[in-house]
Amino acid sequence: MYRDRNCGEVGEADIGKELTLSGWVFRRRDHGGLIFVDLRDRSGLVQVVFSPDVSSEAHESAHLLRSEFVIKVRGKVSRRPEGTENPDIPTGAVELYAEELNILSRSETLPFVLEEAADVSESLRFKYRYLDLRRQEMQGNLVFRHRVTKLMRDYLDREGFIEIETPMLTKSTPEGARDYLVPSRLNPGQFYALPQSPQLFKQILMMSGLERYFQVVKCFRDEDLRADRQPEFTQVDMEMSFVEPDDVISAIEGMLSHLFKETLGVEIETPMLRLSYRDAMERFGSDKPDLRFGLELREMGDLAREGSFKVFLSALDSGGRVKAVCGKGMAGLSRKEMDLLTEEVQSFGAKGLAWIKIKDGFESPIAKFFPENVLKEMALRLEAEEGDIMLFVADREDVVLDVLGRLRLEIARRQGLVSDGFRFLWVVDYPLLEWDDEGNRFQAMHHPFTSPADADMERMLGEDINDDRNGLASLRAKAYDIVLNGNEIGGGSIRIHNPEVQSRMFDVLGISEEEARMKFGFLLDALRFGAPPHGGIALGLDRLVMLMVGASSIRDVIAFPKTQKAVCLLSGAPSPVDERQLKDLHIKLDAVVE
Ligand code: AMO
Ligand code: AMP
Repeated sequence: MYRDRNCGEVGEADIGKELTLSGWVFRRRDHGGLIFVDLRDRSGLVQVVFSPDVSSEAHESAHLLRSEFVIKVRGKVSRRPEGTENPDIPTGAVELYAEELNILSRSETLPFVLEEAADVSESLRFKYRYLDLRRQEMQGNLVFRHRVTKLMRDYLDREGFIEIETPMLTKSTPEGARDYLVPSRLNPGQFYALPQSPQLFKQILMMSGLERYFQVVKCFRDEDLRADRQPEFTQVDMEMSFVEPDDVISAIEGMLSHLFKETLGVEIETPMLRLSYRDAMERFGSDKPDLRFGLELREMGDLAREGSFKVFLSALDSGGRVKAVCGKGMAGLSRKEMDLLTEEVQSFGAKGLAWIKIKDGFESPIAKFFPENVLKEMALRLEAEEGDIMLFVADREDVVLDVLGRLRLEIARRQGLVSDGFRFLWVVDYPLLEWDDEGNRFQAMHHPFTSPADADMERMLGEDINDDRNGLASLRAKAYDIVLNGNEIGGGSIRIHNPEVQSRMFDVLGISEEEARMKFGFLLDALRFGAPPHGGIALGLDRLVMLMVGASSIRDVIAFPKTQKAVCLLSGAPSPVDERQLKDLHIKLDAVVE
């Protein structure tokens, strides 16, 4: 009734045929005698010609057409006259001469021109998301996302994984962000938490003997949002029984190789590179290093000792570090530009930025503090040559690594050093615990269910570890993250399957037995009835798809994303609710809602 073909599928094989097509008026050009319409549906565009010689009635109505009207046309497919073909679109060799036109739906003038949407503010695009999603780029992203999800589901199915749903109304889980809470009407004063991940349920499924689980699942985290973070996002979540890290890692490598080959035709080299957390931090100043370029950070502490620059020496004397990175091709920066770069580095948390240009020798306010051979050795370590600049930060170790890691990214971006392609790696050998200055206690680096490394298990269970801060900090975990082009696209671990180890972990984290019982009693119980060794991982689907399609934000691969302030501009959520609803929930508001 509406269509014999999709618009984008009309081809030379249809020449001479009479077809009915439906879609949106993408563009309309009135050439006096002839009216041309690019008719669009999800499959693409086809040119429709309204000619008074073919149908004066259709031609007359075509004058009424405006952008985004929805129409049905019937007509005959012809080859386009020579010289008017459009090689840029698949239907570019043909056009449909309209014999009949039906206007199915009209459109008001759009708040923005679809073709210019890329330059329109995101708030306008989000408010009129249905218009934004009409764009080929956005539709392409969503179709691609669908294919990725389907390929992963099929792959995992073949590998013996089964998809099992876990509750959305659940107990607070400990991934480290704030929970989204849902009040319970039937249990006044009590709340569900939306899952930050299905972590505990998937572990319970292993204890239930399900062995290989996966789920494409929404997760909710109330945290500060960025280009790669949404309050609700999707994980491809997995868990396996009787596995070690290598098993999980190779399962993921197999799946990603298959996925990249099928969708992008890209062969991924496996096994992928693995770096220890320590090496990643020392060499790249990040636990999600971008390997598409070099510029590795280098140790300068020993060389700093051979000079007399006070800033460096005092940092070293107070237990800090001095490291440097090479500003490739940046020796030409003016004094003013150097000041701006210094300010930027200070905004990353450094006290300052010391620099030495290599420009007919060593040019720097601090060169005078170092003998020539030391300057040369610095350059050698950084592989810095004529035209480069050596950039130093002296500070506490964590500041040095973090700042230089960020500076490294900035240099690569400015100097256009980031190569194309997909560079994967695994970061392994994470510390089990992470000191939290604010809370003045240790936190789990991954989550509290992550197993310590085998070699550290005995120490972890030892009597006196609780009072030994360095000892605790040196415990390693059976945890792994997968990184693609500088983005953490997944993370997981082998879990604790022994109730004593789990209790000790809570103890080390300063979680009392009582609190552990209250929050995770069901897990502790389940561990007592025959828990298999198990482990898993979750991939961030939004991030993975973003990188695969080359988008710069996960918002471009999510149909209905939220803003920086976690607002859905389309629906207007969050919003105030009726007094009665609140009453039902036994909730009194403290905040004034505008
Ligand atoms: P983790 O917290 O590392 O692990 O999350 C797994 C992956 O999910 C993605 N991700 C996000 N994507 C978009 N927006 C967010 N706010 C967001 N937060 C996380 C990242 C991340 O690597 N339960 C564990 C997994 C496990 O141990 O098996 C977990 O959730 O790509
Ligand atoms: P000052 O002696 O404070 O004038 O600093 C001399 C140079 O060292 C300036 O270029 C500062 O930006 C730089 N600088 C200051 N503190 C640090 C630091 N902690 N690490 C690296 N460079 C620094």
